[in-house]
Amino acid sequence: MTQPQIASRIPFAVEVEAGKTYFWCACGRSHTQPFCDGSHRDTVFTPARFVAERSERLWLCGCKRSANKPFCDGSHKQLPAE
Ligand code: FES
Repeated sequence: MTQPQIASRIPFAVEVEAGKTYFWCACGRSHTQPFCDGSHRDTVFTPARFVAERSERLWLCGCKRSANKPFCDGSHKQLPAE
């Protein structure tokens, strides 16, 4: 199975606004991590859309291996050493 690129080996802390819609980059290629910039176009991946429930800081997955996308679930800790 095609794996997404590892954009970061640690999660991204982002401040989100209540009610605003976000598109989390699932392919790992975006230059505006952790958000999609359309770089996924020629891949099998599509961004994960979510609406912020409240204005807060969120930890979004950087390794693109989370089982709870777009949120970090600690999967980055299982990444093979570089
Ligand atoms: S750029 Fe990665 S999902 Fe869009």
